[in-house]
Amino acid sequence: MRVGQVSENIPIASLTTLGVGGAARFFMEARTDKDVEDAVAFAQHHTLPLFPLGEGSNILVPDTGIKGVVLKMSLQDVQIKDDGDSILLITGTGVPWEKVVDEAAARGIFGIENLAGIPGSMGGAAVQNIGAYGAEFADTFEYADSIDSTTGIERRINRVDASFAYRTSIFKKNRTLIITHVALRLAKQAIPNIAYADLESARAEGIPLTLPIEVVRAVRSIRARKFPRGVGEGTAGSFFKNPVLPRARFDELAKHFPDMPAFSQNEDTVKISLAWLLDHVLSLRGFSLGRARLYEKQPLVIVASAGARAAEVDALATEVARRVFVATGICIEREVETFGLHE
Ligand code: EPU
Repeated sequence: MRVGQVSENIPIASLTTLGVGGAARFFMEARTDKDVEDAVAFAQHHTLPLFPLGEGSNILVPDTGIKGVVLKMSLQDVQIKDDGDSILLITGTGVPWEKVVDEAAARGIFGIENLAGIPGSMGGAAVQNIGAYGAEFADTFEYADSIDSTTGIERRINRVDASFAYRTSIFKKNRTLIITHVALRLAKQAIPNIAYADLESARAEGIPLTLPIEVVRAVRSIRARKFPRGVGEGTAGSFFKNPVLPRARFDELAKHFPDMPAFSQNEDTVKISLAWLLDHVLSLRGFSLGRARLYEKQPLVIVASAGARAAEVDALATEVARRVFVATGICIEREVETFGLHE
């Protein structure tokens, strides 16, 4: 397909890591800001919603497809600006996140090394505010350039306006904002953050964790052990968010489950481990419905076997949420977004 060209009824399961679901009514690809502007104009002209697609690593495409314009974000430019004490790393939103991590690690600059090994694009990382091993995308975010798909208005969004919180942002809440570029502020010198249990164990085993490249290697190896990359099997990483509870509610729950891992968010809220609940309270490791199952090594992850339909993934997720509610009274939220529906 030529860039800028509009294609119709294009199956997009293969452009997602779950690998399920139907076709996009219209499909376009953007390599430049101008391509994004053209797609916005096309969607406006046809009064259709526009859905930006990165690496497709956090989306569930419904079997009925997408009644709008799916825009594959392929803006691939990378710029480095040395500001003396720090570096500004600016990339197009189509750059794979792993490439962003490698760019920083190769230069020995700090800030995103703990986020190595996460599938997705720079755009997806911003929308989701990806996080792992004690770090979050928001920690280094400087600004994002965006175009509003309903008005065509261009806007630079700073850290305050981005409203990042656990696995969410302004970009997730307001899906008319199409990000074209993201700038990250990275440090030339820092002490690596290796307080997270898995990294602490790696350090205790004598694995070097001083340089960004060393942390990147260690994190990738930890993730490779935990997250499936099976041939013919799809996943979108954690399918659910860890629940964040008011402290009083947490205190009540902890009486029933004293071993449950928990992390204070602030004075008022506590994040609890859903993987632990699914494993130790509900015994749901490997639980399956149809061709969808909870991954044996990490039950927060849903795996879709070859030939699975989106409806099977959806039914499994709904059943898991029901069981968690019955056992604990907690309404869990999905991290994976159903394309075409918004938060
Ligand atoms: N656990 C179990 N049984 C299991 C798996 C885990 O009891 O089968 C327990 C672990 O022992 C640990 C706790 O659950 O005490 C948490 O597990 P883990 O460290 O794997 O982290 P997580 O909370 O399940 C989150 C992120 C991941 C990220 C990891 C590592 C969310 C929704 N998920 O998972 O992010 O990689 O921490 O920092 O916050 C993603 O978002 O797609 C993702 C993979």
